[in-house]
Amino acid sequence: MEKYSMVIPKVAGNPTICFRPIRPSDLMILEQLHADVFPIRYESEFFQNVVNAHDIVSWGAVDRSRSDGRSDELIGFVTARIVLAKESEIGDFLSYDSSRSDQTLVYILTLGVVETYRNLGIAASLIGEVIKYASSIQSCLAIYLHVISYNNPAIHLYKKMSFKCVRRLHGFYLINGQHYDSYLFVYYVNGGRSPCSPLELLKVAATYMRSGLRSVAARLRRNEEKMPRWPKCKETRCLITTQSRRNLTTECSECSCV
Ligand SMILES: CC(C)(COP(=O)(O)OP(=O)(O)OC[C@H]1O[C@@H](n2cnc3c(N)ncnc32)[C@H](O)[C@@H]1OP(=O)(O)O)[C@@H](O)C(=O)NCCC(=O)NCCS
Repeated sequence: MEKYSMVIPKVAGNPTICFRPIRPSDLMILEQLHADVFPIRYESEFFQNVVNAHDIVSWGAVDRSRSDGRSDELIGFVTARIVLAKESEIGDFLSYDSSRSDQTLVYILTLGVVETYRNLGIAASLIGEVIKYASSIQSCLAIYLHVISYNNPAIHLYKKMSFKCVRRLHGFYLINGQHYDSYLFVYYVNGGRSPCSPLELLKVAATYMRSGLRSVAARLRRNEEKMPRWPKCKETRCLITTQSRRNLTTECSECSCV
């Protein structure tokens, strides 16, 4: 596909920011924005799914006050997907009824804002849209996401929005051959809550210890063998979440937030 030539907009005084669904006509700019703000490449299937709303919900931000004829062009975006609570990796951080198969979560896949529009509260508003959406789904108990451990602006934003950091995942991301930790953030909705009975807390502690042991074992193995044991992705600059059981093709086409 032809590369979209994005004009980096200058932000004049008080921009008029509006939020709207992402549409098929946003395809090229959406791809360009992801390429600009993330250190990884996403497959075109991911963008097709976003613009056609195939299992993905999304919101775009536009600056209606732009005078360069691009007042409907995306300057920010958030994409998310509904997952079943019982199939998610955060089951241990939720107090939910395992006999109910319909309970869901919203997983934030990507979030980004054009550099010249940052620190204006646009990402906070996009997250606000996700919170409103998740709260409107009765079966939804929480929103969650991963963020790479050095992404201070994003971590600051999630904490400001009352997301709770529930876990640090060692070596979660593999980017250009380098491992990075991630934080797992959760925002509870509709009465969803973290486990708090002694039994529930014991379960969380056991899971945490198991994952800690796995991480130590992985580090030891890595020291023993010089050859990387991590799965290779067909994309050279693709991110792989090494602790996920999802297959590589899916990882490359639907990466999590970094
Ligand atoms: C993270 C990102 C989406 C935030 O967008 P934004 O529109 O600037 O966000 P907001 O204006 O709503 O909030 C930004 C907050 O981060 C703070 N911030 C900015 N830079 C920071 C830094 N280096 N360290 C800590 N906080 C920082 C701002 O001060 C602001 O907080 P405040 O309102 O308390 O002052 C944007 O920086 C971005 O697109 N980054 C690249 C892509 C990315 O990292 N996405 C998230 C992946 S999980």
